Amino acid sequence: MMFQTNQVYPIIWHNDSVSLIDQTRLPNEYAFVEISRSEDMAVAIKTMIVRGAPAIGVAAAYGIYLGAREIDTDNRDEFLQDLENVAQMLRSTRPTAVNLFWAISRMMKVAYETIGTVDEIKKALFQTAQAINAEDLQTCQDIGDNGLKALPTQPGQLTLLTHCNAGALATAGYGTALGVVRSAWREGRLARLFADETRPRLQGAKLTAWECVQEGIPVTVITDSMAAHCMKQGLIHAVVVGADRIAANGDTANKIGTYSLALVSKAHNIPFFVAAPLSTVDFDLADGSQIPIEERHPGEIYQIGDTILTPEGVEFYNPAFDVTPAELITAIITENGVFAPSELKQQEARKAA
Ligand code: MRU
Repeated sequence: MMFQTNQVYPIIWHNDSVSLIDQTRLPNEYAFVEISRSEDMAVAIKTMIVRGAPAIGVAAAYGIYLGAREIDTDNRDEFLQDLENVAQMLRSTRPTAVNLFWAISRMMKVAYETIGTVDEIKKALFQTAQAINAEDLQTCQDIGDNGLKALPTQPGQLTLLTHCNAGALATAGYGTALGVVRSAWREGRLARLFADETRPRLQGAKLTAWECVQEGIPVTVITDSMAAHCMKQGLIHAVVVGADRIAANGDTANKIGTYSLALVSKAHNIPFFVAAPLSTVDFDLADGSQIPIEERHPGEIYQIGDTILTPEGVEFYNPAFDVTPAELITAIITENGVFAPSELKQQEARKAA
């Protein structure tokens, strides 16, 4: 993989283990967690030390390899049976982002199809995890560059709005939605990014803003409820978000709040783009109604640090994602090009195994 010193890489294979940037500690602390066991990788995904759809796919791929390394047998059938348990543990971490399941399937296919000894299967699994990581980095750069074809032309004056963090931290590096932002910035087309803070976990305020500061991209953080007002004031030219799972018809699951952002974009006639790799498209789902939506602990709503925000006796509902209907999406920016949601189906054959 071509590493560049000024870029952020959330997942690095280093010293026989995986180094993860601990995203729960940003922006106050830039710290790494070393993961050398599959079980610890599952915990890291669940607790969002690593998060973002493509990033948890890459992390799970390494998790499968770490699990394979832990299995102490030369018997192929026994090995594959134990590896299925590792795969199941990793699958049960987070339900919405399809990249997780895609990466695990790809790794398991390699395990079943590699002809040879258990050691040879382990070697093939390591190479595949490394390939998934490297391919995602290239894919994000291609998404970023393809995004330039889709964005409105406002020479040097363009202002974009994004939600959550679909940046380098959420991928192998560079980012999807933030990849488009990066490419626009590097081409001199972007004046400023507006970042929704993204309640309840604040990925926009903490992570997207941090990435922008690292790269010198001017960024304005707003609360989620300010987006419509900013649009009305003419501050936003286009919206770019990432995706956790896209159904075959283009319906898109992404961080909670994305759907309302798409609705207010429509009301203000502002283009609304989804930027995602084809590994995020679940061609098995005809539409978004079947996408499983993760519900997280209510503490994410009622507590900030040590402070409890709400009175005793109330109930909470904390869905982590929502589904934006395809008709609200102007175009989907992928590594293969920019497509209307209705054109996505034609890309099925071009999706990597
Ligand atoms: O709960 P998270 O932080 O994993 O949610 C992340 C998002 O919703 C991102 O927008 C999505 O995964 C795309 S990341 C390139």
